[in-house]
Amino acid sequence: MIDDISTKVGIVVDVSTTLNPYREITVTTIAVLGAGRVGSAIARTAMDAGFEVNLAASGPAEDIALLAEIVTPGARAMTAADAVQGADIVVVAVPLHKHRTIDPTGLRGKIVVDAMNYWAAVDGAIDQFDADPRTSSEIVAEHFAGARVVKAFNHIGYHDLEEHRLPRGATGRRALAVASDDRAAAGEIAQVIERIGFDALDAGPLVAGAALEPGTEIFSGAFDAEALQHRLDEAAALASTPTLP
Ligand SMILES: NC(=O)c1ccc[n+]([C@@H]2O[C@H](COP(=O)([O-])OP(=O)(O)OC[C@H]3O[C@@H](n4cnc5c(N)ncnc54)[C@H](OP(=O)(O)O)[C@@H]3O)[C@@H](O)[C@H]2O)c1
Repeated sequence: MIDDISTKVGIVVDVSTTLNPYREITVTTIAVLGAGRVGSAIARTAMDAGFEVNLAASGPAEDIALLAEIVTPGARAMTAADAVQGADIVVVAVPLHKHRTIDPTGLRGKIVVDAMNYWAAVDGAIDQFDADPRTSSEIVAEHFAGARVVKAFNHIGYHDLEEHRLPRGATGRRALAVASDDRAAAGEIAQVIERIGFDALDAGPLVAGAALEPGTEIFSGAFDAEALQHRLDEAAALASTPTLP
């Protein structure tokens, strides 16, 4: 449970030192790995918010150059390796079963946003994730060892990402949660989310990202900060309740 964030008439007031969306933002270039539905939507909304975007799919830059020009005008089409190199943060928005095709070497030390979901009912089962009781982001973080992994953008549809944006302070502004074992990285991504057009709430460490996964109320709904905080608190309370033997 995160108790250092309070809500007042739809405005998130963050009194923490590490997760403060009102701090001056330091991120300028975002690499988006995955030029599909989510990757394109994140690229467009990030550029609208003033960020520079390097966009990559699985192949050479020229394979997505035309797509980038039409679907994400302003984004620089690159290979994944080049996109990551000059970026402050890296968003991974590829099908989950393909996350291991991303070379983790260039991601070491970088903030890596895991926007992926394990949604077996829609995308099919993945043995590795079925066999592992951890959250999908914890498993992903293992592959990206050395990266500062933040779970974010996973509980909003790609179309809603563009349509639900509102200016800071607007009534009913939708809130998105971030989960990370790295508090400072969570704070950076909270700033990005705020600037894109959503309130940002801290869900806690990666393990708490379970509350954002497919099948949860948070995943299926759309909530303002107060309502989302309430659900995060409920999930945290449930997670800390000892189970009967
Ligand atoms: N759909 C939603 O509303 C939504 C919302 C939140 C989260 N998500 C999650 O976001 C992830 C992506 O979903 P999507 O719907 O955007 O998928 P998508 O439309 O199928 O796009 C996938 C993209 O990933 C690229 N890719 C594959 N391997 C890559 C690699 N090694 N390096 C760089 N790019 C690579 C693909 O490029 P190639 O064509 O070159 O393979 C493609 O551009 C999934 O995990 C999904 O669960 C989806």
